[in-house]
Amino acid sequence: MSMPTRRQPHGAALPATAPDAAGTGSDAGTAGVEAGGGNRSDDTASRTDETPAGGLRFPPGFVWGAATSAYQIEGAAKDDGRGESVWDTFSHTPGRTRNGDTGDVAADHYHRYAEDLDLMRDLGLGSYRFSISWPRVQADGTGAPNQRGLDFYRRLVDGLHERGITPMATLFHWDLPQSLQDAGGWESRDVAHRFADYADIVFRALGDRVPVWLTINEPKTVVQNGYLEGHHAPGRQDPAAAYLVAHHLHLAHGLAVAALRATGSGRIGPALNLHPCYPADDSPEAARAARLYDGYENRLYLDPILTGRYPQDVLDDLGPDSRLARGIHDGDLATISTPVDLLAVQYYTPYYLTGDGRTTPRWPTSQAPWQQIYPDGMYDVLTRVTRDYGPVPLTVTENGLPSPDTLGPDGTVDDSGRITFLRDHLAAVHRAVADGVPLESYHVWSLLDNFEWDAGYEQRWGLVYVDYPTQRRVPKRSAHWYRQVIAANGL
Ligand code: FCB
Repeated sequence: MSMPTRRQPHGAALPATAPDAAGTGSDAGTAGVEAGGGNRSDDTASRTDETPAGGLRFPPGFVWGAATSAYQIEGAAKDDGRGESVWDTFSHTPGRTRNGDTGDVAADHYHRYAEDLDLMRDLGLGSYRFSISWPRVQADGTGAPNQRGLDFYRRLVDGLHERGITPMATLFHWDLPQSLQDAGGWESRDVAHRFADYADIVFRALGDRVPVWLTINEPKTVVQNGYLEGHHAPGRQDPAAAYLVAHHLHLAHGLAVAALRATGSGRIGPALNLHPCYPADDSPEAARAARLYDGYENRLYLDPILTGRYPQDVLDDLGPDSRLARGIHDGDLATISTPVDLLAVQYYTPYYLTGDGRTTPRWPTSQAPWQQIYPDGMYDVLTRVTRDYGPVPLTVTENGLPSPDTLGPDGTVDDSGRITFLRDHLAAVHRAVADGVPLESYHVWSLLDNFEWDAGYEQRWGLVYVDYPTQRRVPKRSAHWYRQVIAANGL
């Protein structure tokens, strides 16, 4: 089959008859959720007002948040003993990122975090998901911790608590210390053990102040973009290595979960980007292709962690001599499936598979060509996880879209497309909760405009506009709308 990848090329459009491969049925109850009127995303699609109508009330205690990651917002690339990561190397390599953009300065959050904390408070956020930069904590990825790096995150989490916001910290959002890449990167099993040491340092330093930890952000994106397609760091195109990398990322996850259990506090889980995979037509070939694609997109990441097994169809497809198959040691799957407290789900786009195993687009895309806008995919992903893996507590840790936002002459930023997108996706989230999905919280990607990896700064994903030349922050229309959603605990 053709290897799945997140950035899909455009293909021919198909008629809009989305078959529902993931299924949507659930006989779970609706306790705690008021499904006022119009609790389907298509019912709300034509509404243009920004005032939450109050029809879709979320359960009491539902938590509203926003997300960022270290390399995308912090800047301060050389401050306070920070080492280099694979993303410093990659972004400074000519031709790798749009306009040669790098994260050297980004949104300068490292220096402006106090102002950003105030923005979060003004939005009314209940949760802030951020990531910790491994090369700030261990410049070379090993050895004694860099206290100045840890102190930054201590100031950040203290500032969150002072404002009544719960910190949710991701241990790894792709910024592997370059020294570890030089030693083999995620192809090397040893890096998983280095990650466990790093996790242990962070747990001991911040464990008393961070109640929720996420281990590895989107292992699939490292596998696909970093090792299959090569348009993310470390820029490799090596399918054999890619799935061994997947195994070592999983092992690192499991070792970190075990490390947290040893230090004794907090909840922890993985952060997986899931893509519903639908057959593009009614043929049995398309159904088979969608099933295998689902293996590569979803079950390759969900199954080892939640069931302790790799999906057999993917193992068979890769063959018995694959580097993945040969890389699995006795006991690895027990480590990888160390029980987690929650699963973080990130949803952006669906895939449609033709009988010959190719993807074909069906819905309009956002400014990101790989993102088809399909709110019902959110419902399908959330209900599918609960149906297939049991009632593991869920959080949505990323959902959002980029738009080419500009600062208007009146000083406002009109991103009404983002409001429509979020409203439609939240309606789908609400429907999933009403159907019994144990979802605790939802985080918009992203709090701030930021460095969108190889796409640089042209795509603006934030609720808050960043005027990069001055670093001025301007809450967009969507931020004002989201504040009302949070205050109303519903749409
Ligand atoms: C996710 C990443 C996040 C950001 C969004 C748009 O895959 O986790 O850093 O790039 O996509």
